[in-house]
Formats: sequence, structure tokens, C-alpha cells
Amino acid sequence: MMNSMGRKLAIGETDNTSDQRTPRKRLRSIPNTVRESFVPVVPARAIHRQNEWDLTRIAPNRPRAEGSPIEVKGTLRNENGTLLRGALIEIWNANHHGRYRHVEDNSGLKIDENFLGMGRVITDECGSYCFRTISPGAYLARPDIGRWRPKHIHLSISCGTSRLVTQMYFPDEPNNASDPMAILMGDSFDRNLGQLFETKDVEIDQSYEFNIVVGGKNATFFE
Ligand SMILES: [Fe+2]
Repeated sequence: MMNSMGRKLAIGETDNTSDQRTPRKRLRSIPNTVRESFVPVVPARAIHRQNEWDLTRIAPNRPRAEGSPIEVKGTLRNENGTLLRGALIEIWNANHHGRYRHVEDNSGLKIDENFLGMGRVITDECGSYCFRTISPGAYLARPDIGRWRPKHIHLSISCGTSRLVTQMYFPDEPNNASDPMAILMGDSFDRNLGQLFETKDVEIDQSYEFNIVVGGKNATFFE
């Protein structure tokens, strides 16, 4: 309808949909357990780098980060065993000293100026992916109770409309058995273990295979 001030917007009973888009429950703060994962908090411009598959260097012409360079490769499948191409895999892990470059990491451990600790890859036509990073240090996640987290790599998998977050563990790490998430996995823990395999690539010290399955009885454990 119009008046002297211009068009007057009025919401009638039949066209008021805003209440359907309003939360019906109280908002909840993000639990600490999620924040302890040190999900990267970065401006979008910081993650559009050319060499996001290689976390061992901030840029190709920069020095390699401290520690042992490793490679992780594998496939991504759905519950039917179908290989998933074009999925986005985001990776983040602590540096060689067990420190995240994250505003909430107050450990005081050494920051490596040559290690950003995050990267992204997209699965290829065969549903395969590969990235390089620095072998992460274990870290004392809960100093109050002396709980260590064994070395691990965080991975976020976005395919279609879903996003799943998981962690890859390393074989034979002393704190694997006492890790709360590993305990939660029970017998399926092995599915979240990277499997060491031989590589002839002189640029890296160790190579791991980590095959990811989203859904079904052989699913990778997701948080
Ligand atoms: Fe972590």
C-alpha cells in the first residue's frame, strides 16, 4: 500500500514466514570439546594459496617447516563403495612441537614461522587425494588433568551438502590407547589409523595411506 512516505510494507497473516526461520530453542555456545579441535579461524583470503596440498611450506619459495615431512594419500568413498570425486578435504594439524597457530592455543610451545598448519585438496576423478604436511607433535590438551593427545591430523570432508570432520591417527603412538576419541571408537579405531607404506620420494620421510569412507558399516569415525 502507498502513503505519503512511499510504499508501506505490511506483513499479513498469510505471508509472514519470518517466524518459521527463527530459532525455537535457546542458542547454545559451542562446547569446549569442539574448540579443543583448533578448527582454523582464518580469513578466506588466507586459504586461497597455490600450494594448499603442501603444508610443509607456506609458499613454494619459502623454507620447509621444522620437523619430519610426511605424505598422506588415500581414497574417499561413500557407504556403497563408490569413489567420490570433487570433494573438498580441509586439513589442519599441530606443528612439529605440538603447537597450533590458533588464537586459542595458549600452550606457549614454539610457533614455527614456516608452518601455517592448514591446507586443502580436492579429490580427483578417481576419488583420490594426496597432501604433504609436517608430522605433528603430540600435545598436552588438558594440563589440568595431564591428558595428552597423541599425534593426529584433523580432516574435514565436504561432499554434496554434508560436511564431516574426522582425525587420522598414527600407528603405535603411546597415547593412542588413552585418547578419549579413540576410546569412543572402540574396535573401529583402526579405520582412523594411517597405514605406513614405503615411498621412494626423497622429499618426504614417511608416507601414509588413509582411506576415508563416509557412511555405512565400514565408515570412518566422524566427530
Ligand atoms: Fe588436534
